[in-house]
Formats: sequence, structure tokens, C-alpha cells
Amino acid sequence: MPATDTHTSDEIIALAKRYVIGNYTRYPVCLVRGEGSWVWDAEGNRYLDFFPGWGCGILGHCPPRVVEAVREQVGQLIHVPNSWYTEPQVLLAQALSERTDFGGASFFCNSGTEAVEAAIKLARLHGKPKGRYKVITTTGGFHGRTMGALTATAQPKYHAGVEPMLPGFTYVPFGDLDAAAKAVDAETAAILLEPIQGEGGINLPPAGYLEGLRALCDSAGILLVFDEVQTGLGRTGKWFAQQHWGVVPDIFTLAKALAGGIAMGAIVAKPEVGEKLKPGTHAATFGGNPVAARAALATIETIEADGLLDRATQVGERFAARFHALKAECPLILDVRVKGAMIGVELAVEGAPVVQACVQKGLLVNCTHQTVLRLLPAINVADEQIDEGCDTLAEVLMAMAP
Ligand SMILES: Cc1ncc(COP(=O)(O)O)c(C=O)c1O
Repeated sequence: MPATDTHTSDEIIALAKRYVIGNYTRYPVCLVRGEGSWVWDAEGNRYLDFFPGWGCGILGHCPPRVVEAVREQVGQLIHVPNSWYTEPQVLLAQALSERTDFGGASFFCNSGTEAVEAAIKLARLHGKPKGRYKVITTTGGFHGRTMGALTATAQPKYHAGVEPMLPGFTYVPFGDLDAAAKAVDAETAAILLEPIQGEGGINLPPAGYLEGLRALCDSAGILLVFDEVQTGLGRTGKWFAQQHWGVVPDIFTLAKALAGGIAMGAIVAKPEVGEKLKPGTHAATFGGNPVAARAALATIETIEADGLLDRATQVGERFAARFHALKAECPLILDVRVKGAMIGVELAVEGAPVVQACVQKGLLVNCTHQTVLRLLPAINVADEQIDEGCDTLAEVLMAMAP
């Protein structure tokens, strides 16, 4: 019997308060099992999950091909370090490369923040011979919690209490091409941004912005780095969000969805840029381990076999239609921003009570930036599930409306 099935939610919560550092705001629910977009708590209550794994559950909970691949791999070889070659890692790098528009090469790690750290180091190593080390990032962006990625995250609330931040970072408003151009100087190595800001509230880039940044980087001789930790691997209806605009970065990051819920991060770089990561410059003990790599290969295989890039687009359209219709009736909705299965609903009020009320009705959603409901549903979520969840959200919002 797994340990999680032997306690009630209340017992687990009491133990957590004693033994687990309290750095997360948690709902008083202990989850024990998941299948697709459904998840169950220790008491057997069922929830519809529109935010599986903070965006990692691109295929929902326990996707069968991923489960099967992991089961097989843990019985064969769990982990060997990168002093050796393993087939899953190399085949994954090939699979990613073939899905980029530039034949990239990969470095593997275990999380989004590590991927961003690797990208920053690579940008600095690349710029070093010309004295370029500075990185420009955009306000409202989110890149992770380790000190480099955190410094890149231009949101003062996340810096408070842990300053001083790293030197060499400049912040410009997201969407403002002129500001980016003015910020570039002789010491700039790269511009780093999310093509669509996720944690910042599902902010889409204005027309021409990403293309303009590409041209700016080309004329200044600096790197363009996309953080696709949240947008990558089919989330927006393309393998990588950059492909909506046909903008090729020099480096981009992946994590979250990459291995269908197993911890994994990566950078994909143009080969001539990636070669600056030489032996000794960077490493990750668990990076690209066979279990995570097999899970990632199974995730890619599922997305392809089940036609889920197109499905992500349809999912977005269905949510958008529902929320635009609700906006016409509900004064609490100020804006609806959607790209594939990346959905933001900006509210006129704090989102936390909305999320709380949804949990009580068996629906799991997220709120970011205080007022933006953020949904990152599985891209294989069914139409009936979308409708059921949207009905619940509509009920909750209409009950709160003045
Ligand atoms: C765009 C982006 N970059 C980086 C990160 C950090 O990822 P992780 O929590 O896996 O370190 C996140 C996490 O939300 C993210 O959305």
C-alpha cells in the first residue's frame, strides 16, 4: 500500500506543518491519484485539473505511454552520469533538434530555473571574447528562483530580502522594442525573454515585437534567448511558441511539459553557440538521465501520435469562446488572453477567492499576478471537461459579481 493511501488529508497536513518547510501556500487537500485531467484526494473526492503540475502535465496525469516508458526504463537503468552515453538522452536531443527550425543541439538539466542558468552561462561564455556579459530581460517576466534566473526575473517582489542580485542585468518593459534597442550597449551579451509571459499574466507579444528583437540582436551581434519553459512542447499549438512568429532564437529553454511530468529541463542552442559549453564549463549530475529522457520521448511520441498540437489550438479556441461569452455577461472579467492551451482571464478583483471557491467545487485553477486566472490544461483535455470546468468557473464568478 503506498504511504499516501494510509493517511487522511488532515493527518498529512498536520505532519507537513511539523516536518515540511512552509514556503508554499497550499490548499488543504492531499492528492493521491491522477488520470488525465482528473485527480483524486485521500478521501476519494474527484477534481477537474485545469492546471496539472503547474504546466508540467501537458498530457494530464499519468499519461499511459509515459508511465509505460518510465516503468520499463527504471527496471533497466535508472541513472548513469554524463561520463557515459545513453541512448534515450541522445535520441531525445535528436527529437528536439528535428522539431526546431534551426537544428539545435541540447544540454539537459532537471528544472526550468536550471535551464535558464545554463542559458545565461552560455550567453556569457559566447560574449566573453568581446567583453559582452550583460543580459537584458523584460519586466513582468519569470525565469526561476535560483540567483541567476531570479535576477533575470524583473519583478521586485521576488528579489525582496535576498538582495544583492547578480550584476549585469538590465530590465526593459515587455513589448517595448525601442526600450530594448536603447538598453543594448557594448557589454550586452543577450536579450532573454519568454515569447509569451506566463507567470506574468499570459501576456502575448505585440505584433512585430519578437521579429524586431531578432533584427536588433542580429544588428548588435548579440544572442536572442527565449525562455520556453512554460510555452514549450506543444503548449501553444506549436512545438515551440517561437514558431508562431517564425523567429529563430540562438538559445531556448525547456522544462515543465518536456518529460510529461517527470523532472527535466533543457536548453536547445544553435550548434555554433552550444559549442561554447565545453567540458568543465557546465554540468548537471542528473541531467538527461535515462528515465527522464524516456519520459520525454514518450511525451513527444504521444503528442505526435494523438495529433495534440492541433488539439492544443482547438482547446484554446473552446476556452476562448467560453470566456469571451462570459465576459459579455460578467463584469468581473476585464480581458481574456489565449494562445493554445495557455489561458489567462484578467479579473477586476483578486483571484485567490475565486481559486478557493473553485477548489470547493472540485475544479483546480491558478491565479497569477493577483488578478489573472491562469489555466494550463492538459492538451488532451476533452470538450466535455472544458465545458464542465467553464460552467463551474462561470457559476463562481457570477456569484461574486456585483
Ligand atoms: C518561463 C519560466 N521559466 C522558468 C521557470 C522556472 O521553472 P522551475 O520552477 O522548473 O525551476 C518557470 C516556472 O514557472 C517559468 O514559467
